[in-house]
Amino acid sequence: MVLGSLAGMVLAASAVYVVKVPDHFPPMPIPADNAMSAAKVELGHQLFYDKRLSGDNSVACASCHKPEFAFSDGGKAVSTGVKGRRGTRNAPTLTDVGYRSRLFWEGGSPRLEAQAVGPLTNPNEMDSDPTKLVARLKAIPQYRAAFAAVFPDGLSMLNLTKAISAFERTLVSSNSPWDRYREGDQTALSVVALRGMKIFFSEKGDCFHCHQGQDFTDDSLRNTALTTVYSDTGLAPITSKDQDVGKFKVPTLRNVELTGPYMHDGSIKTLRDVVEHYNSGGAANLNADPLMRPLGLSEAEVNDLVAFLKALTDHSFTQDPRFGLPK
Ligand code: HEC
Ligand code: HEC
Repeated sequence: MVLGSLAGMVLAASAVYVVKVPDHFPPMPIPADNAMSAAKVELGHQLFYDKRLSGDNSVACASCHKPEFAFSDGGKAVSTGVKGRRGTRNAPTLTDVGYRSRLFWEGGSPRLEAQAVGPLTNPNEMDSDPTKLVARLKAIPQYRAAFAAVFPDGLSMLNLTKAISAFERTLVSSNSPWDRYREGDQTALSVVALRGMKIFFSEKGDCFHCHQGQDFTDDSLRNTALTTVYSDTGLAPITSKDQDVGKFKVPTLRNVELTGPYMHDGSIKTLRDVVEHYNSGGAANLNADPLMRPLGLSEAEVNDLVAFLKALTDHSFTQDPRFGLPK
């Protein structure tokens, strides 16, 4: 499927790629050691969808990060990798992932290039041995040529992760009703969503203290009192601190309508149930964030908040041919 456009990439190798973002977004951070080019992005795009990156040719990045679900795993609480093996965490959206200062639910990976090694080698995900993977891809002439055109040192595990990361940095979603409202279209949000917006940004709803900035996350790690006993302890194994048990990364809320079920373990089915969780103040938990307390929202206010969350959906993002299955 991918071979035709790979051949054409050699010509485009030097074309510069600028990640376009609207005025209410900061510029996309691009690491100095992984400059963007059109050919690198296109190579990363091909790799993202290529099942040959997995140990048994059955799973691609896109198998769990599906464009129609804003690059999450549509409807699945946890994902299935090679040979039907199941992981323990919910596949997060990759919407605006280039802005994240921490990756993974426990925030343990600092940048995309390092993160990509995780799924490639994780036995429950793509289960590839790096040496064998590079050898396998080197046997494909089109990949050899495409890598050589983009990277002076050709095909390597590092360059593979660089190309995929360059593609991921292009996954910008900025055309939801909320964005149009931000850009001055007073009619973009329904009356219900507008009421929900006010609750979201009020001390009563208190969502904005954690879900802030253009992507509705401050990338901090918090305990939202999801349960009393966390089987996945989140940040704690990294810091070895008891008070970090149950702390997980605040997720972006962009396209959240499309990315259920919710939370790190996919344990909450609907957006309404997530809002009810916050409204209740959550489970008894010693590490609960001080912001977790019963909110006293009425039934109507819960509905308003849900309507606002749905106004963060950007269908032009999920249907953008630059991000979908490569030709
Ligand atoms: C088998 C399903 C599966 C496959 C295949 C997969 N992922 Fe993921 N991805 C996940 C899950 C589950 C998580 C959350 C893991 C965690 O937090 O420990 C995740 C997390 C991520 C994150 C972190 C996002 C954030 O905001 O923290 C990125 C980026 C990512 N994946 C990119 C990729 C790339 C690139 C590939 C291909 C090389 C890939 N994934 C393959 C399931 C998958
Ligand atoms: C104390 C910080 C904090 C506050 C306050 C907060 N959130 Fe969250 N939110 C988080 C964290 C952390 C998670 C992930 C928790 C987990 O997976 O265990 C989350 C998850 C979510 C999710 C699920 C997203 C996904 O992709 O799974 C939604 C929806 C959400 N929050 C909406 C809200 C709304 C609406 C409010 C206000 C009523 C709110 N949040 C208040 C920190 C917070």
